[in-house]
Amino acid sequence: MKTPRSLIARWPLLSTAGALLLISIWWFAGKSAPPPEPHGPPDPPALIARETRFLGSAKCGECHDKQFQHYLTSGHSKTLSSTRDFPFRDRFEGMTFADAERQKTFHYFPEDVGMEVVVPGLFGGDRFPLQFAFGSGEHAITFVTLTPDGTEVPAGIEHRVSWFTGQDQAGLTPGQLGGPAHQDIEYFGRVIRGETLERCFECHTTSGRIEGDHLVDLIPNVGCESCHTDSAPHAALMQDRNPADADAGFEQRPWRTTDQIQICARCHRGEDSVRKSEITRENPKIVRYQPVGLGQSKCYVQSGQRLLCSTCHNPHQHAARQATVQYEKKCLQCHSVSPHSARCSVSPDSGCISCHMPRVEIHPSISFHDHWIRVRNDTDPPAVQGETDVRQ
Ligand code: HEC
Ligand code: HEC
Ligand code: HEC
Ligand code: HEC
Ligand code: HEC
Ligand code: HEC
Ligand code: HEC
Repeated sequence: MKTPRSLIARWPLLSTAGALLLISIWWFAGKSAPPPEPHGPPDPPALIARETRFLGSAKCGECHDKQFQHYLTSGHSKTLSSTRDFPFRDRFEGMTFADAERQKTFHYFPEDVGMEVVVPGLFGGDRFPLQFAFGSGEHAITFVTLTPDGTEVPAGIEHRVSWFTGQDQAGLTPGQLGGPAHQDIEYFGRVIRGETLERCFECHTTSGRIEGDHLVDLIPNVGCESCHTDSAPHAALMQDRNPADADAGFEQRPWRTTDQIQICARCHRGEDSVRKSEITRENPKIVRYQPVGLGQSKCYVQSGQRLLCSTCHNPHQHAARQATVQYEKKCLQCHSVSPHSARCSVSPDSGCISCHMPRVEIHPSISFHDHWIRVRNDTDPPAVQGETDVRQ
């Protein structure tokens, strides 16, 4: 691995930034892609390589208005923005954040070209651009800047400070190293390279490939085609008004099989994301990996894998907009017809989620519902106290 030193070499270019930043986010301005290179584009990085053509969700929405309108309210439709326009941008106006651990203060400037940050005393007080805002802001927003160092390996900085919606304030990004920074650029954030960086974009976009300090072929957010993979041919066929062929163009139909869980697990993380030994009921990490947790549940294992993500979630909608009682109805589809299935001796008709799928905290302001559905005991990660589950 190259030393991050080369990033410093690159730094003056970045910090003099306005123009460069403008180029790097050309796509947000709706400009067309640069012309192909004479010998065709280089092979895209493996994890982002996708062979099909992507149309974008709005195209699908022309014929599937209901799904599209629902989708627009979901977190999936807002997983990546330019810092020219992202939720809570106004809150950064005039904001400073003191990194107590490293004794540095960040000063934020939401400019027309995107957000910029200054740390007095570093790089002569030059502005460092924050390029991309990850996350809808439901829980948090984290900034990433691409900082190519002239090698083939993509490199970037995950900014040290994130926005935490639950606390209504900025805070240190989870996973950032403590202790002194080894070089000045690390004061701005964690250096991420190669596959780790590519994966950020892979999970937060429908398509996109890092080239230097910008993304090409970008379709931001988790769009229709993230889940309905390879559906462009279908759209083309439908465009030719041949409804009899509605099925054509779909090679796989994951929404009808248990493979669906694999589609979700690509981003929500499945068993290949954890070591077998980590899958224990005590481990709070599993709580964040819904497909792993669900896969351990007797509900999943003993129902002949009839329990899918879409049993409980309309994949086009915002999960948290659904009333809790809607989820409980799903439980009762399988747990009410005694003696054929188990009924709860404690509370047979209601309150299922708060006792069997409670929220568990994994960071002071971030909690997830434990999808390992079970009768809980003292060894389980503690449930967030005071959750009432009374949303109607
Ligand atoms: C020109 C119109 C048109 C476009 C564009 C279009 N579809 Fe469809 N789609 C249809 C029709 C018609 C059907 C069959 C009737 C129905 O289920 O609504 C269908 C069916 C579907 C189904 C259900 C298949 C099943 O298993 O029953 C899915 C999923 C789907 N489309 C996804 C997409 C996605 C994703 C896109 C964008 C890439 C897209 N469609 C673009 C017209 C279109
Ligand atoms: C394996 C796929 C994957 C990768 C890689 C990934 N994310 Fe995410 N990210 C998710 C999923 C799924 C969520 C939804 C909540 C969750 O499960 O954590 C999420 C949520 C988030 C959120 C919070 C959004 C909100 O408000 O709920 C932020 C911020 C974020 N990711 C930033 C990043 C950054 C920055 C990187 C790279 C350093 C990254 N993610 C890498 C899949 C991924
Ligand atoms: C997060 C993954 C995901 C995204 C994003 C997504 N879908 Fe779906 N879609 C599914 C799943 C899963 C099903 C099957 C639902 C079921 O079986 O109940 C489905 C079903 C459908 C259907 C069949 C009818 C229905 O509503 O069940 C259509 C049509 C459809 N999707 C179109 C779209 C369009 C258009 C978009 C983008 C605006 C989109 N989908 C985005 C996962 C997704
Ligand atoms: C697709 C059917 C299905 C759905 C939906 C379902 N379950 Fe289950 N569940 C089962 C089966 C099958 C078992 C194992 C056999 C049994 O106990 O009946 C089980 C077992 C359980 C157990 C006992 C687990 C243990 O470790 O002993 C609990 C608790 C439970 N389910 C709660 C729930 C809750 C709460 C929901 C809704 C959030 C739910 N289930 C949804 C099928 C389902
Ligand atoms: C038995 C019902 C059930 C099933 C099956 C289910 N979920 Fe959930 N899920 C829930 C409930 C309940 C919530 C809490 C929603 C809320 O806050 O309103 C939730 C919340 C979530 C969230 C938001 C973050 C959190 O944990 O609070 C994500 C992401 C999620 N589920 C993903 C998935 C995925 C991926 C699958 C399939 C592997 C899945 N879910 C299957 C019931 C279910
Ligand atoms: C391409 C990556 C990707 C895929 C595939 C994917 N998700 Fe997500 N999902 C995300 C990211 C990223 C977020 C964080 C959204 C945000 O910023 O709020 C998320 C958020 C969610 C949430 C919580 C927020 C909300 O809008 O309710 C649920 C529930 C969820 N996903 C369910 C699913 C299910 C079910 C599937 C499979 C049918 C699926 N996801 C497939 C990346 C993905
Ligand atoms: C106040 C907490 C609480 C609520 C609310 C609750 N449960 Fe339970 N449930 C428990 C406890 C505790 C047990 C273990 C009881 C025992 O072992 O005698 C249990 C046991 C179960 C079992 C296993 C029964 C068996 O014989 O193996 C199932 C299935 C179940 N609950 C489903 C549900 C469903 C579905 C709901 C919502 C309709 C629900 N529970 C609501 C606490 C609760």
